[in-house]
Amino acid sequence: MPSATSKLSPSFPVRRMDYDFEDMPKYWCDNEPSLTHYFTGLSTLFPEGESYFVRAVRALRPRVKDHPQLDRDIGAFIGQEAMHSREHHQFHVSAQQYNLDPESLERMTGIILKGLERVFPKKWNLLVTVGLEHYTAVLVATMMRSTYQLMRDDTIRDLWLWHSIEETEHKAVAFDLYEHLYGRGLDAYVPRVMIYTFSLAMITLMSALYHLVLMKRDGHLFNIKSWRRFATFAGEHYRIFTPKFLAYFRFNFHPNDVDESALVAKTRAVIGLPPMSPEGRESSAA
Ligand SMILES: [Fe+2]
Ligand SMILES: [Fe+2]
Repeated sequence: MPSATSKLSPSFPVRRMDYDFEDMPKYWCDNEPSLTHYFTGLSTLFPEGESYFVRAVRALRPRVKDHPQLDRDIGAFIGQEAMHSREHHQFHVSAQQYNLDPESLERMTGIILKGLERVFPKKWNLLVTVGLEHYTAVLVATMMRSTYQLMRDDTIRDLWLWHSIEETEHKAVAFDLYEHLYGRGLDAYVPRVMIYTFSLAMITLMSALYHLVLMKRDGHLFNIKSWRRFATFAGEHYRIFTPKFLAYFRFNFHPNDVDESALVAKTRAVIGLPPMSPEGRESSAA
């Protein structure tokens, strides 16, 4: 007879995707170089960034064997992030047809994060993951609400929306692992917000640098009209992002303080995923 523990399943599924980006247009985001290259730059952080998250969480996973549900959810988190890495890498391979060499930015991200991993203790690597999972959760909510409508290619739109749904599904896993291991006291709070501040600065700098590199490679570094369009976009979005980024500094912050289930349900319909059961399962008939 199976034990109660063996019956547990993760709170969310791991979906295997296999997108084909070969027919992607050059400026798939709003027909704009500045917007397309901003999102491509962000995307080049994912393959190595999400592999780093997986290693950070996996390094501490043996210490949650006393919490079977969290252990299952960590397994599904690892599965989802591995798929995100793979699909975003495939997207970069296809983007190479426009001679932007996004894979070189992936490699750069890998060098930076592997360096960080060597000097940071396991707890800090987990905290970078916890902080950047919050950063991602904030960005993807806006992607699901409105930004996806700028995507001029259905496959690329589906990539971003599928990734957004899964980031929302697993947004609390790394945080819950941290809390399970280190508690909710002041000695857990202080490093949490310190590493978050560092992580936000790091990802903002890297994303800005990659954006500039891609604009230069594409010959649009001095395209003022396109930069203006990006400035308007960034201004509108950072007004929404900033208070949400700051919420992480609350002493009692938890990623599930914000319920995005209605937004996720709407987004699932946009990309044709079947409805979820209350147990977190979906049929494969999509
Ligand atoms: Fe991801
Ligand atoms: Fe994630």
